[in-house]
Amino acid sequence: MQSTISFVLDGKIQTLCFNDELKPTTTVLNYLRSSPIHKGVKEGCAEGDCGACTIVIGELNSANKIEYKALDSCLVFLPMIHGKQLITVENLSAKNSSAETLHPVQKAMVECNGSQCGYCTPGIVMSLFSLYKNEKNPTKESIEDTLTGNLCRCTGYKPIIESAVKACIHDGLDKFTTNEKQIVELLLQIKKQDESIEITTSEQKYFQPKTKTEALQLRNKMQNSVLLSGSTDVALRVTKQHELLEEIIDLSAIEEFKKCTKTDSVINFGAGMNLEEVKKISEKEFPALYETLVVFGSKQIRSLATLGGNVGSGSPIGDTLPTLMAYNAEIKLQSVDGERKININNYFIAYRKTERQPQEIITAISVPRPSSKTIVKFYKISKRKDLDISTVSAGFCLLLNNKSVETIILAYGGMAAITKRALKAEQFLTGKNWERKNIEQAMELIAKEFTPISDARSGAEFRTIASKNLLLKFWSETKTERR
Ligand SMILES: Cc1cc2nc3c(=O)[nH]c(=O)nc-3n(C[C@H](O)[C@H](O)[C@H](O)COP(=O)(O)OP(=O)(O)OC[C@H]3O[C@@H](n4cnc5c(N)ncnc54)[C@H](O)[C@@H]3O)c2cc1C
Ligand code: FES
Ligand code: FES
Repeated sequence: MQSTISFVLDGKIQTLCFNDELKPTTTVLNYLRSSPIHKGVKEGCAEGDCGACTIVIGELNSANKIEYKALDSCLVFLPMIHGKQLITVENLSAKNSSAETLHPVQKAMVECNGSQCGYCTPGIVMSLFSLYKNEKNPTKESIEDTLTGNLCRCTGYKPIIESAVKACIHDGLDKFTTNEKQIVELLLQIKKQDESIEITTSEQKYFQPKTKTEALQLRNKMQNSVLLSGSTDVALRVTKQHELLEEIIDLSAIEEFKKCTKTDSVINFGAGMNLEEVKKISEKEFPALYETLVVFGSKQIRSLATLGGNVGSGSPIGDTLPTLMAYNAEIKLQSVDGERKININNYFIAYRKTERQPQEIITAISVPRPSSKTIVKFYKISKRKDLDISTVSAGFCLLLNNKSVETIILAYGGMAAITKRALKAEQFLTGKNWERKNIEQAMELIAKEFTPISDARSGAEFRTIASKNLLLKFWSETKTERR
């Protein structure tokens, strides 16, 4: 076990020791802001919503090439960047003794007047830099998706989108391509001495195991510790609630949790796979899960947040949950005593309470491939399309036998203390014809099955009407399909 972390910043390996000042739960944002040369990174919200704190992380892939992704530095604890390259807006331009040459995305932002007050600009530049490194000639959809996690109150986005179009027609080369070999060597140097991390200060214990076995043993010993995967939920306990997390097991360095395995009948998503990866795989395999992730947070959030974390949060508005219920997914739980699987439809017990025992960790989520005749859809109602949490969400599954319903799953988020199925409506519809008069009766049953709350997002009455109408929408979208 090592008690320090190392990462590459400003072309050099930086090694940090922790204490009660520089805590293991210090965010990358706060660390950078404390440095006189990295003030470009800004705090807007400290909760992943505004993107002013966007940085880019460079990570070695299995072929020892660097992959770049934009993240919200306000949600990343320092140990999570161990072994990676941390890139800030100050690192983008190429400097020599006589001149500074802006990076193509910076140049385009200047030429297209993409900045006004400038508060959002470093974050936007970093998001565009990650787009530049990952895509050539990106589509308008891809540019907009890249910018979803960056709020700008001044420009109206048009000049920023123009900057992206202008900058991303390129040969893929930049200063980072030229320096890649040198950075790879530094990252490999860190990797050579790479061990699991154990940081102890007088107030906190932070563990970052490298293997599943180690993680299970740690969990067995520390059953009240906070488990952490992507930290997009957990970090808010620190940045917004100002909690001191005393014992943390950070699962983000366990490679085994990031693997996806496929058989003819099922796809196993490792619990630590980030939602951008899950989104890519789902596009062909599970279209409803893909649609769920299209409207999930922002690219910065999806690049950090994991599928295991969404299930682990047990939130009644966790967006993947109704969809996973509709696909009849299984949750794999493991402890030092062995492994077990629970169908997600039986997993949630009460508000943020699940069947998972304290010594267990979610290791994977298995999603069965539905038959070609099965229709699965996801719906999300929120105040705005992007980067918003659900008021009501739904994952529906339908299998018809001629005109009658053979199988139906109607799973709702935002309607109860847990993600919950409309079992009475399902029972009523099973064996009946998939036709409007039956749907209308099922809608009345849905209204009776749930007693949703009123909160800042909506009133209970709105939720009830919305949940009924989502079934009607599902019917109207499927009544002509695959009869
Ligand atoms: C700006 C913003 C936007 C968001 N938008 C959405 C959205 O659109 N839809 C939505 O559903 N959510 C959204 N979220 C919430 C959050 O991103 C998701 O819940 C995410 O999937 C959590 O994953 P994570 O890996 O970051 O989890 P973490 O924060 O690491 O953990 C979340 C919870 O799961 C537990 N946990 C993590 N891994 C495991 C494991 N392997 N085994 C057991 N328990 C585990 C943790 O202890 C914690 O209680 C948003 C959050 C932010 C900050
Ligand atoms: S400060 Fe707003 S996303 Fe990080
Ligand atoms: S330029 Fe002012 S917030 Fe974007």
